[in-house]
Amino acid sequence: MADLRPETLKRITDAAAAQAFIDDQIKALKEQVGESKVLLALSGGVDSSVVAALLIKAIGKNLVCVHVNHGLLRKGEPEQVIEVFKNQMDANLIYVDAVDRFLDKLAGVSDPEQKRKIIGKEFIDVFAEEAAKLDGIKFLGQGTIYPDILESDGVKAHHNVGGLPKELDFELVEPVKYLYKDEVRVVGKQLGLPDNMVYRQPFPGPGLGVRCVGAITRDRLEAVRESDAILREEFAAAGLEGKVWQYFTVVPPFTSTGIKDGKRTDDWMVIIRAVNSVDATSATIEEIPYELLKKIRDRIFAEVKGVNRVLYDLSTKGPATIEYE
Ligand code: XMP
Repeated sequence: MADLRPETLKRITDAAAAQAFIDDQIKALKEQVGESKVLLALSGGVDSSVVAALLIKAIGKNLVCVHVNHGLLRKGEPEQVIEVFKNQMDANLIYVDAVDRFLDKLAGVSDPEQKRKIIGKEFIDVFAEEAAKLDGIKFLGQGTIYPDILESDGVKAHHNVGGLPKELDFELVEPVKYLYKDEVRVVGKQLGLPDNMVYRQPFPGPGLGVRCVGAITRDRLEAVRESDAILREEFAAAGLEGKVWQYFTVVPPFTSTGIKDGKRTDDWMVIIRAVNSVDATSATIEEIPYELLKKIRDRIFAEVKGVNRVLYDLSTKGPATIEYE
């Protein structure tokens, strides 16, 4: 595919270049949008967050952000979106609690592709319903970045549920569409977004849904969410945040025997996965220090309900994939 990136756009590697880009974009966004309103699906991922922060600077309350909580977000994510965008940046933010709606639709569905389809479709439906409640929206903001254009014909990360509402008839506003991921992060940092938003590890569109393997149940989903939060906390405390490419926990849909207070238990197992990669086509294992692994294990046993076993996945990609389904 031809190089579409404008020649005048220099690589953004430092604060000064980021600030120049931000100033240019604010002007361009004001020109493109005028007094109209822009709608944006704000997941809290770095791309949509940077687009939101740029648009807030350019058009303020004429940006309407919709944050859909589908129940498959990581611990603390919806709260952080509200804190950063509504409380700190005073954004016009609509928070949609769609947890029950998604989990009810997903109940009993174990096929991974079916799960992804349901999550994607439900997301569009929720987003379209919110859009229909609003008047006078002409534009749709999107966190398309340059690799999305190169890899998928301009469609935001084909399987990312965050950017799909194509059937909604809006003009697109895509201020970071010629930037690479590392440049988006530099711009995000310059816009004052928190480090754990800017340097976030890759997180799949279907979220924790693909890590609660098979048919999602609420108790097992909580075990995924709570163990993931412990893993992230401990990695951050050990200085590994931003250094390891992707790390998470997985809970398979079967139990094993354990023992607690002299009684046999029949509980879930948590699998720890931590990989390094450049572009996700292959991956190697992060060699987590043994002491850290044991600390994470102990915290999972102490803090996560219904878990009696912790495992450490040694599989490279390939033959394994990064996610479990
Ligand atoms: P796999 O599991 O194929 O993952 O080795 C490669 C990278 O893609 C992410 N991934 C997804 N991202 N929607 C997404 O937006 C998905 O359905 C999906 N499945 C996998 C995965 O987290 C890894 O970074």
